[in-house]
Amino acid sequence: CGIVGYIGKRDAYPILINGLKRLEYRGYDSAGIALRTDETRVFKCKGKVQDLENHVEGLDISGHIGIGHTRWATHGEPNDENAHPHRSMNNKFVIIHNGIIENYSSLREKLIRRGYKFSSETDTEVLANLIEYIYLKGNVTAEMAVRLALSKVVGAYGLVVICEDEPDQLVAARKGSPLVIGVGKGEYFLASDATPIIEYTQSVIYLNDDDVAIISRDELTLKTIHNDKLTPHIQELDLDIEQIEKNGYEHFMLKEIFEQTQSIKDTFRGRVVPASKELFLGGINEVIPKLVEARRILIIGCGTSWHAGMVGEYLFEEFARVPVEVEYASEFRYRNPVIYNDDIVLAISQSGETADTLAAINLAKEAGATVLGICNVVGSSIPRNTDAGVYTHAGPEIGVASTKAFTAQVTVLTMMAMLVGYRKGTLSKEEYEKHIDELACLPEKIKSILDKSEAIKELSAKYVDSTNALYLGRGYLFPVALEGALKLKEISYIHAEGYPAAEMKHGPIALIDEQMPVFVAATKDKSYEKIVSNIQEVKARKGHVIAIVTEGDTVIKGMADHVIEIPETLEALAPLLTVIPFQLISYYIAVLRGCNVDQPRNLAKSVTVE
Ligand code: G6P
Repeated sequence: CGIVGYIGKRDAYPILINGLKRLEYRGYDSAGIALRTDETRVFKCKGKVQDLENHVEGLDISGHIGIGHTRWATHGEPNDENAHPHRSMNNKFVIIHNGIIENYSSLREKLIRRGYKFSSETDTEVLANLIEYIYLKGNVTAEMAVRLALSKVVGAYGLVVICEDEPDQLVAARKGSPLVIGVGKGEYFLASDATPIIEYTQSVIYLNDDDVAIISRDELTLKTIHNDKLTPHIQELDLDIEQIEKNGYEHFMLKEIFEQTQSIKDTFRGRVVPASKELFLGGINEVIPKLVEARRILIIGCGTSWHAGMVGEYLFEEFARVPVEVEYASEFRYRNPVIYNDDIVLAISQSGETADTLAAINLAKEAGATVLGICNVVGSSIPRNTDAGVYTHAGPEIGVASTKAFTAQVTVLTMMAMLVGYRKGTLSKEEYEKHIDELACLPEKIKSILDKSEAIKELSAKYVDSTNALYLGRGYLFPVALEGALKLKEISYIHAEGYPAAEMKHGPIALIDEQMPVFVAATKDKSYEKIVSNIQEVKARKGHVIAIVTEGDTVIKGMADHVIEIPETLEALAPLLTVIPFQLISYYIAVLRGCNVDQPRNLAKSVTVE
């Protein structure tokens, strides 16, 4: 979900609506705003921010104070009632909230016993009424009521509250769900991440867990939930508005796919020096000796980040000869995993906010492991909760389906594995230098693949009506097959499975018939001959093979229905090129199917609930 807020002299409405649009990638089941003049007016409805704009047409949208919310449903289906903001029963409070209140049903029962009635099924309404109950009963200030209510809450929240009786202030609090405050002149902005703020100010304060901010036009007071005063730490951002706009592309996803020539460069800028063949990762420089000594590395992540982690496993095993386990953060944390205090845990996350990954990090920290982060969003929760880490520097990724963040994550993992392997002596100088040289060539090679996008679009059109698809790859390209399948299902709603090509014969081969497109990552590497056989197995069963091959490959060309040629590269770097055609294929198929590519149904970019 996404939160915005404004207090100052400008009209709040356009700031809130703009902000919600920028945050819409965080959830788009429903949207709502509250605007304050003499009283607080709430407007909300099911659907997107655009629906909210239509909904308020002709209504009074004045006010210099306001809050807004875009929702990804957790408790209660997405409808008008369940949309935020929520009011407390006696209209004293209006609140927006991200996260989940885990003990909401027991709190709800208690409040019902005290005469409270509920009009929605949300945990947020419970919170609103709890704050109000404490406020009225205890005869305390709004800020105090918020703090006392939060001390009774189990769960995660990022919230902003307006109190009818204290109209010139907003109260915000955070635990587990991010909140950023933008500091202007005589005005403050609030949001779940910095994207809605940066067009107004680059000065921001990130709230920490258990922080409460009391914000009026000219003053910000920061304290803990236990009423200990804190000194706000203002940071200056360096984000450009162009980075979060479409710049002429039809969708963010397409823009982000095309940005990969540049984003990869940004990932290794200042870290790879081709002339001296040096590799330097400042964020983890001090823990490199630990990585060299490590007996085991655990990699955790979710979704696309987990796929990047799998590529990382192959890289670390090959270059640094260290055992690696890759885990879904959500499974890892609930499984009573074995974690040694000399383990290195690598947490991968684009947003740096994924709740499951954060929880897994805390578990690993408690067990005494060294936890490193690989994140894209600077200042997000994961980098702030890990011992050290490397930013991917891919720039803001807005499309819900991850693209440039994946290649940036794999690039960082490649650099890390090379560095550790080289220091450890398991990666020879010659191999190390060869890979450094090749890394520098990747942006050009990616560009040459992107230049084929028209042909890839035409090819994609042939598979628009498919209901299923299979993605195959071996070795380094198996995670790429998983990622290709994920991309297709996320945005086109075609059921797709990624499989290790050799495993196909143990099950998925039963699915193959003339209706089934089989996308194969089959570039030249040590298992090339094997994958050629796998392609033959598919063809023998009349499947359609679309193969990504190395330029000049004639063998597969003679067998497959279609080939997409990509430049030759080193085996360990092949994922960074092979994934590009898969991204484009899923993009074009989804567009041709009329799907909302940037905001696929039911998904959210940043999942801050467990
Ligand atoms: C969500 C997104 C995915 C993403 C995953 C992990 O499910 O829709 O695209 O891969 O979260 O997100 P993270 O920000 O931790 O990489």
